[in-house]
Amino acid sequence: MSKYVLALDQGTTSSRSILFDKEGNIISSAQQEFEQIFPKPGWVEHNPNEIWSSQIGVVAQCLAKVNMSAGDVAAIGITNQRETTIVWNKETGEPIYNAIVWQCRRTAEKIDDLFGSKDDEDKVEIREYVKRTTGLIPDAYFSASKIAWILENVEGARGLADEGKLLFGTVDTWLLYKLTGGTVHATDYTNASRTMLYNIKEKCWDERLLDLFNIPKSMLPEVKPSSGLFGYSNKDIIGASVPISGIAGDQQSALFGQCCFEKGESKNTYGTGCFLLMNTGDDPVESKNGLLTTMAATADGSAGYALEGSVFIAGAAIQWLRDELKIIDSAPESEKYATSVLDNGGVYVVPAFAGLGAPYWNQDARGIITGLTRGSSRAHIIRATLESLAFQTADVLRAMEKDSGISLKNLKVDGGASANDFLMQFQSDILDRKVLRPKVVETTALGSAYLAGLAVGYWEDTEEIKKNVGIGKEFNPAMSEDDRKTVLDGWDKAISMIK
Ligand code: G3P
Repeated sequence: MSKYVLALDQGTTSSRSILFDKEGNIISSAQQEFEQIFPKPGWVEHNPNEIWSSQIGVVAQCLAKVNMSAGDVAAIGITNQRETTIVWNKETGEPIYNAIVWQCRRTAEKIDDLFGSKDDEDKVEIREYVKRTTGLIPDAYFSASKIAWILENVEGARGLADEGKLLFGTVDTWLLYKLTGGTVHATDYTNASRTMLYNIKEKCWDERLLDLFNIPKSMLPEVKPSSGLFGYSNKDIIGASVPISGIAGDQQSALFGQCCFEKGESKNTYGTGCFLLMNTGDDPVESKNGLLTTMAATADGSAGYALEGSVFIAGAAIQWLRDELKIIDSAPESEKYATSVLDNGGVYVVPAFAGLGAPYWNQDARGIITGLTRGSSRAHIIRATLESLAFQTADVLRAMEKDSGISLKNLKVDGGASANDFLMQFQSDILDRKVLRPKVVETTALGSAYLAGLAVGYWEDTEEIKKNVGIGKEFNPAMSEDDRKTVLDGWDKAISMIK
């Protein structure tokens, strides 16, 4: 048996490859950012060929750094930004349009036309149908309306689709197709459950929703369990034929990577967005508080479910400070500014740059900064931006507790921004509970490595994997009750202006 498992972690802003050993240690890693394309306000695209070239580039770098080749890899796992939609020509393998990214709002109007607003009586039945079958709340976030947009707006697309010549895939499917030299067109339960076209209870593509969006079934990939053989990498592409045996959307992958295998276990990932997921076992719990029901990855291939609170903008708000406002030079610098002031000075940033996700679901909301005074400084704005990640998490955590009836004793965290000690302490303070950061915060990649390795016998079972868990740092609440109330009231006031 080869010594390592390779994870391909294709995120919203960068492609990464990480090589793990049996103990879940990182042996090597490589990362590359790629272009974010904003053709119009609210629109977000990626170039699918750049997604592929950056991903395959970091695979090569990751292996080369430790003088290894694909022959040293026992299995490949893929994890990915979810919902992002790619359509390509089956005959040429060429994408017919850029990838429409999950954050893109171009189809908000179409969603409103088809599903009305929350209180639109005429559309209640179809809204509830979507919720019941797909577990989702109708929104431009999911793939369905993005596929429809491509078919309606790209010249010649409709004709090709009707002739069965187009394929759709989320990013996992695209990478799998490319890695296997164009021979496999498949996805896993977790990614399928984010399209708004998949019946998560019956585990099949939903004919009524396909009709509603006018999407031919021939475009859709085969759906498989997250842990199991999807295909083999093409030798000419990475130098060896390696089983690709684990696929999961990044948030479900992180849930698995944090070893939240049991009902009631949860994690919060601070990536581009922020996603709190709770494992609900084989029970698809329907939310009454603005959360999503989604499929979770399981070790044995059975259908697992989770409740999810999706916050669209988290780490992306820190990037906004760096790239658009240009008031920090790097993301880690935000911590220095945040701790240079005693508090937020009454400033609140609500980064609803792509509408509001859970638990509010307002496609048209946009970001605001409130509470500015003559004394508000750059440090206050930076601090308030960081705090907004914690406030948004607190909102979804409250909804999660109501839906599940389970009170979370602590919060397991991971993802890039979880490295920010100020943010983690503040999170603990406003939740008034422990925040636990693991030794390896790359749990997204680790989850897909586990799924792939379990399928080929690299790891025997989840018990063996659990031995790898280690807490890196624990944060304990240290804020007074009065201060907590003050900041939470301030946030509630700010968010109520746009929700
Ligand atoms: O649903 C979108 C999510 O999968 C994106 O994840 O890690 O790129 O923020 P990330």
